[in-house]
Amino acid sequence: MDLAGKKLMILGAGRHQMPLIQSAIDLGLETHVCSIDGDYPGIVMAPNFHAVDISNQHQVLSLAKALQPDGILTTATDVCLQSIGTVVDELGLHGSGLNASSACLNKAILKQKLVESGVPTAQYRIVENANDAAEFFSDHSSSCVIKPVDSSGSRGVTKVSDVSEIQDAFQTAKSFSRTGGILIEEWLEGEEFGAQAIVRNKRCELLILHSDITTAPPRRIPVGHGCPHPEEDQLLVLVQNIVDDAIECIGINDTISNIDFILTENGPKIIELTCRMGGTRLPEVCGTYWGLDFYALAIQLALGLDVALPATPQGKPNAAHNLILDREGRLAEMDEVGDEFVHEIYFKKGQQIAVNAAQQAELGFVQLIRDDAIAISSDLVDEVNRLTNSVRIEVN
Ligand SMILES: Nc1ncnc2c1ncn2[C@@H]1O[C@H](COP(=O)(O)OP(=O)(O)O)[C@@H](O)[C@H]1O
Ligand SMILES: [Mg+2]
Repeated sequence: MDLAGKKLMILGAGRHQMPLIQSAIDLGLETHVCSIDGDYPGIVMAPNFHAVDISNQHQVLSLAKALQPDGILTTATDVCLQSIGTVVDELGLHGSGLNASSACLNKAILKQKLVESGVPTAQYRIVENANDAAEFFSDHSSSCVIKPVDSSGSRGVTKVSDVSEIQDAFQTAKSFSRTGGILIEEWLEGEEFGAQAIVRNKRCELLILHSDITTAPPRRIPVGHGCPHPEEDQLLVLVQNIVDDAIECIGINDTISNIDFILTENGPKIIELTCRMGGTRLPEVCGTYWGLDFYALAIQLALGLDVALPATPQGKPNAAHNLILDREGRLAEMDEVGDEFVHEIYFKKGQQIAVNAAQQAELGFVQLIRDDAIAISSDLVDEVNRLTNSVRIEVN
């Protein structure tokens, strides 16, 4: 594949963009990394760095007009998706345009498009106040969930099982919504799982299912994943059409799309989907099972190149789990993770750890990889869950 002379813009220079930047460099691309200036590891490794606010569409577009890249992408962050959509539209690049990225960033638009196209998703209503939410709640027999239309990382998303919880949940959602938009939807009972859809020329060329590990309600946050999903064969039959319809109605293109599902007793329903690959080490988890470098793949898609996809998985069953903490402080003590596990710890003893807006700090991750293809992946997920939960972390 001739990549020489091709120019790529990567938005974001944080820890989670580092493997994407490295892949672009390894592919021999002229790599332009964009981020606000600061103490970001991706800046140090960037062959070309541009200090711009990647959430600012105008700044990113004017830089893109000057650079004239052959492709633009990010991973693991949503803040720049509209900037990417704008550049894709204006420069006629491969990828998802502004309409698609705007829908992915606003659940009011996303849900409306899904419902109009008959894609299974939780029943919902946009609500102006807690009374509207209470009305929807009383019309539904199940629990509900209240969320901002335009947040991410489970921030401001709360399950409500009693009408008395609605006021607080509404206020919490409000405090995390940029536009103030709030929705309530029925809580879907069932297992959460996800998919990475490799989309080229508006078609899903490969659909990879994975299992999800989340924190317990009322606020579920994805913390780990396993691949393959233990019921992959049965589930693929159920979700392929749903995925095709969802991708088409949102207009997702030339990317790896992250899709979240709940497997209800009435079949799988979409919680949300987006025009970039998933975070929480999903590129590594799915890539390890299929024997694919997801970062290189996402770059090739963004450049509009053909991608060579194997017919069957060529890698190893595996599961990864973040090491997380729900309080801040200086790292005092942390159990060592055995060298038999793939793992990385981002902090050293004595270093200050800050929680994010979801009241969580990510300290590192552990990945379990099995050599034998017959390893039961649900066991792997349980094992990695147990292992990470047993790691003692103390801060003061
Ligand atoms: N309708 C629902 N039924 C059951 N669980 C839900 C529902 N909506 C959200 N969740 C849980 O909350 C998490 C975060 O919600 P989501 O809508 O994906 O918000 P965000 O955009 O912040 O990720 C989901 O991953 C899921 O675990
Ligand atoms: Mg989500």
